[in-house]
Amino acid sequence: MANIKVGIIGTGSMANTHARRYREMRGVDLRSCYDTDTKRASAFALQHKIEHVAASLEEVIEVCDATSVVTPDAFHAPLSLRILEAGKHLLCEKPLATTLKDARRVARRAIQAAQQHGTIHMINLSYRDSSAVQEAMKIAARGELGEIRHVHGHYLQSWLTGTTSWGYWQDPNWLWRLQTAQGSTGVLGDLGCHLLDLVTAVAGDVATVESRLTTFPKIDRKGRQRTALGTARLDANDTAAIQLKFANGAVGVCHATRWATGHMNSIFLAVHGTEGALRIDLDQGKDKLQLCRGRNKAMGRWSTRTIRTTPSIYQRFIRSIKTRRQDHPDVPRGAQIQALLDACQRSSQKNGKTTRVGRWM
Ligand SMILES: NC(=O)c1ccc[n+]([C@@H]2O[C@H](COP(=O)([O-])OP(=O)(O)OC[C@H]3O[C@@H](n4cnc5c(N)ncnc54)[C@H](O)[C@@H]3O)[C@@H](O)[C@H]2O)c1
Repeated sequence: MANIKVGIIGTGSMANTHARRYREMRGVDLRSCYDTDTKRASAFALQHKIEHVAASLEEVIEVCDATSVVTPDAFHAPLSLRILEAGKHLLCEKPLATTLKDARRVARRAIQAAQQHGTIHMINLSYRDSSAVQEAMKIAARGELGEIRHVHGHYLQSWLTGTTSWGYWQDPNWLWRLQTAQGSTGVLGDLGCHLLDLVTAVAGDVATVESRLTTFPKIDRKGRQRTALGTARLDANDTAAIQLKFANGAVGVCHATRWATGHMNSIFLAVHGTEGALRIDLDQGKDKLQLCRGRNKAMGRWSTRTIRTTPSIYQRFIRSIKTRRQDHPDVPRGAQIQALLDACQRSSQKNGKTTRVGRWM
C-alpha cells in the first residue's frame, strides 16, 4: 500500500505532538502543513522536515489523504466540514465544535463521507491512549463492578496561578483559551471534554447534569486582578463543578479547574459499583489501574495492575485508514460529548438547575 499522505492544519504547540507521532509511524508521509500565521507554519515545517508549506486549507486537502485539525476550538467545525466534504480522512482535535448544532452538523457529514467515500473520522480525546482507561472500559462493560452507583473524576491544572513550567496565561497559546470571543468554551470545553469522555466511556451515558461554571479574575504580573485586557474580555469559564445522574441510575461528581495549585495536569477517575471499584490516577502513570474486588472488598484493600501499552489514537487513525475499519473515538462520539458540554452550559446559566442532556444526532 502507498504511504498515507498526512497534513496538519494549525501548527501551534499541540501540532508538535501530532507531527512527532506521525513521524514515528511507518507508511506515513507527513507531507503538508498550514497555519494562518505563515511564519509559524514555516518554522514548524523546518522543525518537522515537512516539504510543503501550504498557502490554504485547500492546498493541504489537494496534496494529502488525511488531515489533522489542530487549530483553536472555534475553527474545528468549519475546517472539519470542508475536509469531510472533500472525502479526506480527518483527525480533529477536541472539542469537536463550540456548539451542539455545529457538532451535529459535522457528525452527520462524517457519517455521509464514510458511506460515500470510506472516509475515516476520529476525534483526539487523547487520554483514551491510556492503557488503564482502555482496561477500565472493558472491566465495566463486562459487569465486573456490579451495578455502578457512584463516580467521581477531576482534571486539574494550575497555569492561571502565575508562571508555571507551561508558561504564563498571557502567552498567545493560553490567552485564546480565556476568551469566548476567540471561540473558547473555557475549562469545560478544554479539560471537561476529556474528563466527561473518560467518565462516560467507563460508567455509561449521562441523563441529567447540574453544573456551575465560574470565571475568576486573572492575576497579572503586577498582582492586579484582570477581567479584560484592553477591550478583550477574559470571560471564558476557568472552573467547573458538575453533578451527573447517569442513565443507569448512578450518580457522579466531576470538577475541572485551571487554578489547582500543585497540579500540572492531573486526571483522576474512580468508579464504585456493588461488586467492585476501580480508580485511575494518571499522575501515577497511564498504565496503572487500581482495583478493589473479590476478597479485597471486605477490607477496602486495593491492588494495582500495570496494563500493557495500547495503540495511541494516532496509530489507530492510521490503522483505520489502512484497514478501512473505523475505530473509536469517532466524530459522532465528539458530538455526543458536545451534548453533555451543552447541557452543562445550560445548567450553569440557570444557576445549576437540573438539565437533561439533549440528543446528539
Ligand atoms: N487532545 C489533547 O490532549 C490536546 C492537548 C492540547 C491542545 N489540544 C487542542 O489542540 C488545539 C490547538 O491547541 P494548541 O495548544 O496547539 O493552540 P496554539 O494556540 O498553540 O496553536 C493553534 C494554532 O492554530 C493556528 N490557527 C488559528 N486559526 C487558524 C485557522 N483558521 N487555520 C489554520 N491555522 C489556524 C494559530 O495561528 C496557532 O498557530 C485546541 O483545540 C486544543 O483544545 C488538544
